[in-house]
Amino acid sequence: MADPLRPATTAVHAGRPPHEPDQPLNVPITMASTYVAGGELEYGRYGNRTWTAFEDALGALEGGRCLAYASGMAAVTSLLDLVALGDKVVVPRHSYNGTLVSLADLELRGRLTTTSVDITNTAEVVAACEDAALVWFESPTNPALEVADVPAIIAAGHDAGARVVVDNTFMTPLLQRPLELGADVVLHSATKYLSGHSDVQMGAIVTADQELHDVLKGRRDVQGNGPGPFEAWLALRGLRTLHVRLERAQSNAAELARRLADHPALVETRYPGLGGMVAVVLPTADAADLLVRSTSLWVNATSLGGVESTFERRRRWTSEPATIPEGLVRLSVGIEDVEDLWADLSQALDLAGG
Ligand SMILES: Cc1ncc(COP(=O)(O)O)c(C=O)c1O
Repeated sequence: MADPLRPATTAVHAGRPPHEPDQPLNVPITMASTYVAGGELEYGRYGNRTWTAFEDALGALEGGRCLAYASGMAAVTSLLDLVALGDKVVVPRHSYNGTLVSLADLELRGRLTTTSVDITNTAEVVAACEDAALVWFESPTNPALEVADVPAIIAAGHDAGARVVVDNTFMTPLLQRPLELGADVVLHSATKYLSGHSDVQMGAIVTADQELHDVLKGRRDVQGNGPGPFEAWLALRGLRTLHVRLERAQSNAAELARRLADHPALVETRYPGLGGMVAVVLPTADAADLLVRSTSLWVNATSLGGVESTFERRRRWTSEPATIPEGLVRLSVGIEDVEDLWADLSQALDLAGG
């Protein structure tokens, strides 16, 4: 086909078997720990055709070569493992706390140094990039929903000779494609929007560069941190509907953010203007705890990106940075009818604000 396909079409069609008689429309789940010798796969830790189907689809969407991992954190730690002894890593102070905990652990053990930045302050980030080997960021950040100047930070990282990694979990390739903006690596917790049904733990790394892909593939081969075949199959099944799920989640989120904006129970509402994530700040931890206990549709649960709406007070996790307000509740807006979501949420806010 002459024209490149639009992302919604790619999400539905990439990574499928050829259109030949009796081919299944979907790649089957290959349950195998070993293969007949002499081919490309050889052993379950080295490859699986169900992984490949998912990787082809996400790689096509992000515009690079993809590798699937057992979780988002398996992908994070595989990338951090590439950092050489003593290297400097620049990271937003409000990144996903699992990433921050991993970096803090590596720093404590003398493996690397980190410089935490306010990712909304581009001048500060650019200055911090100067002697960095790795620039790592999310935009919007989890859970603060701060937005970065993505192209400017990628350029600053490259000017410094650093590798630039963007965690694209919140945006998905349908809303932001960092490789097209010049990033070297895109990372996903495929557990979230890509899978979309709160039933899979998986991660992915997409690289612009074939050489880096090969290095990471070699390490995954020996580290054994690839996903289970069933997980890869479920993630690909989820990816097929990403565009319609995200459209609905986004329109619900925008509408809820509009209604929440001047709610008297809230100190602040944060919505970056796209995507399905919203954050609200209540005056106290107790008020936030009461909110998340007072709904019947909204589920008080961690994680995000599922078809069902979930929310949680983030500071209930002791690993969450102290600069995240105690009363901040992160909302992952699902694809339900927005009026039902609003009715449930607003009665709980009335209780929490009363
Ligand atoms: C932005 C972001 N990156 C990475 C991860 C880690 O992914 P996983 O939980 O699949 O290991 C998460 C999980 O919440 C996340 O929100």
